[in-house]
Amino acid sequence: MTTIIPIASGKGGVGKTVCTANLGVALARMGKTVILVDLDLGGSNLHTCLGIRNNRSGVGNLIHKQEDSLDSLLVETAEKRLFFIPGDSLLPGTANLSYFRKEKIIKDLFGLVADFVLIDLGAGSAYNTIDFFLCANNGLVVVVPETTSVLNAYSFIKSAIFRLIYRSFPNRSEERRIITEFSAGRLEGSDTKLGALADLLGQVNPDNASIVTERLQQFVPRVILNMGKETADVTIGAKLRQIARRNLEIELQYVGFVPVDPSVPRAILDRTPAIVGNPSSPFAGAMFAVAERLVHSRTASPPQLFDGNQDLDEITRQFFKANHA
Ligand SMILES: Nc1ncnc2c1ncn2[C@@H]1O[C@H](COP(=O)(O)OP(=O)(O)OP(=O)(O)O)[C@@H](O)[C@H]1O
Ligand SMILES: [Mg+2]
Repeated sequence: MTTIIPIASGKGGVGKTVCTANLGVALARMGKTVILVDLDLGGSNLHTCLGIRNNRSGVGNLIHKQEDSLDSLLVETAEKRLFFIPGDSLLPGTANLSYFRKEKIIKDLFGLVADFVLIDLGAGSAYNTIDFFLCANNGLVVVVPETTSVLNAYSFIKSAIFRLIYRSFPNRSEERRIITEFSAGRLEGSDTKLGALADLLGQVNPDNASIVTERLQQFVPRVILNMGKETADVTIGAKLRQIARRNLEIELQYVGFVPVDPSVPRAILDRTPAIVGNPSSPFAGAMFAVAERLVHSRTASPPQLFDGNQDLDEITRQFFKANHA
């Protein structure tokens, strides 16, 4: 059974790529087979963290139909059991990522065979990023102890939930219309809790309320608190959990508190994951602890969703207009 773990964040520069590379090494050293996929399209730089030359075909080539499948892009790394699929730094693909190519990438992701597939995503709530994040019920969200990072993480999780619920109903359904209106803030109760949306959907069909409740129960994003400086930083993580529980009715699972460590930026300059050069640093210890939790905590199977659809672009745009005006 392959466990897919997308790694996202609301704010950029919080350590997604660093976590992807180092967790990959940690898991491989614990005997797991790991594939790292660079899906930060437009900002691919995972190869740099891994010390791999930027001269191999990657997801950009797949998007431009120069390659047939994700697994044909697999590259070995210096680490035993750790493999890599490059992004689009060689051949930019973001602007050409059609709905169908995105679906193809997602289908191929589910076809990869390894113990773990870790996906490095771009920052923010672009709808492609969210669709990749929804390849799992337990994706990782990286936050740093700064108010903006936590607020953006909350926004990201909220956008992901709307999309998750939206894709739980078929295309052109009345339910999707209601969700779009609700997320755009045009329906009564939109500014309150998500439970109000479940109630509205329940009026269309009584079964809907339990569909939404079940989705929300299964959706448990995992959170890494990165670049921590003091234990008081943990309280900022607790706040995120509190607002997620209160407003979104979901639980978050914290899987690690990772200290800020000067060996990390140095390792990037050396083009090697920090835990390779400094396996006994506090940063490395924290990464192994996160890897341990990922190996031992139960992972829910991925959500079974209806196809994402072109009309989904609309919901994301409206949601953003309403929330970031
Ligand atoms: N625990 C840490 N200690 C010290 N520096 C860190 C730590 N984690 C990340 N960094 C530094 O933060 C910077 C950003 O890290 P990284 O590129 O992994 O972020 P990102 O979230 O992937 O960014 P982007 O959103 O641009 O993809 C890097 O320079 C890295 O060295
Ligand atoms: Mg990155």
